[in-house]
Amino acid sequence: MTETLPGAAIPNPTDEAAITAAVDQAVAAIAGAATLDELKAVRLAHTGEKSPLSLANREIGKLPKDQKAVAGKLMGSSRGRVNKALADRTAELEAENDARILLEETVDVTAAPRRRRAGARHPLSTLQDRVSDIFVGMGWEIAEGPEVESEWFNFDALNFKPDHPAREMQDTFFVEPPEAHLLMRTHTSPVQVRSMLEREVPIYVLCPGKVFRTDELDSTHTPVFHQFEGLAIDRKLSMADLRGTLEHFARQMFGDEAQIRLRPNYFPFTEPSAELDIFHPGAKGGPRWIEWGGCGMVNPNVLRAAGIDPDIYSGFAFGMGIERTLMFRNEVGDMRDMIEGDVRFSEHFGMEI
Ligand code: DAH
Repeated sequence: MTETLPGAAIPNPTDEAAITAAVDQAVAAIAGAATLDELKAVRLAHTGEKSPLSLANREIGKLPKDQKAVAGKLMGSSRGRVNKALADRTAELEAENDARILLEETVDVTAAPRRRRAGARHPLSTLQDRVSDIFVGMGWEIAEGPEVESEWFNFDALNFKPDHPAREMQDTFFVEPPEAHLLMRTHTSPVQVRSMLEREVPIYVLCPGKVFRTDELDSTHTPVFHQFEGLAIDRKLSMADLRGTLEHFARQMFGDEAQIRLRPNYFPFTEPSAELDIFHPGAKGGPRWIEWGGCGMVNPNVLRAAGIDPDIYSGFAFGMGIERTLMFRNEVGDMRDMIEGDVRFSEHFGMEI
């Protein structure tokens, strides 16, 4: 589309045929404009200063007086036709434009939203955090130790005799070569000894973490699981302090109606030792006693191995399994559900901590 129509002679404003031809040409070009941009070019070419109709209009001044009125009338109506055609086509193209934008930018308010799956923290992690929070709330510290542990920390320092059955190959994953005396820790109790060696008394630490045993995977066993270990070392600590601490912990975890019970037991690293039962008021199938873990007063041999004088200091310790706690606290019937990593299992627990 050009601004002027090159070579077009200036039509005579009194020549009705020539003027009508110019108008017809303009109207055809206007009708042929497919977009507002094209129409703008057509407008310039047919109504701009250098368009045949404008040039013809300018000729009127040069005409003899008696022809001016006729020419003025002819040019007026001609330009009127062109302007009307322009206005009509502009309205049409604008309407088309609006309709297209409406269609292109349609928002379907009834469409189902695309939701991104948020995922969820694993309930074992959130339970571990909750246990940690309860002890931190009592002023305890969190301690950690390595998962590949030396045999000395895992067994010897904890007063396991060299022939103790727990050391046997069928319970413990030993790490090669055997001379290195390394193993995958079978419990979190070695962190007790590490804490005593690393820290100054008094010591109040909670040690959560992964442990490993050569168990076959079934509904109540898994070769990799989690425990938390508690250790308190101070002057004059007694079984009463152990009991009070565990009772507070049990109530924080299971509600004010929870109770604990200690039954005599044996562990090499505690003397006396006890099995800890919890009375779980919200247990599935009604309130009942459930075995929860082990505990006792730290054996003087363990204190000595960690360089603490048992005549001045005493301590208590306890240890529980996190999977087992989750099972009876949240009614998980099969431990395998916890290790499959299916987010649907975790989502079911929400983001509780
Ligand atoms: N370490 C023991 C286990 O894995 C649990 C345990 C029992 C830990 C008594 C303790 C304790 O601290 O005093 O079975």
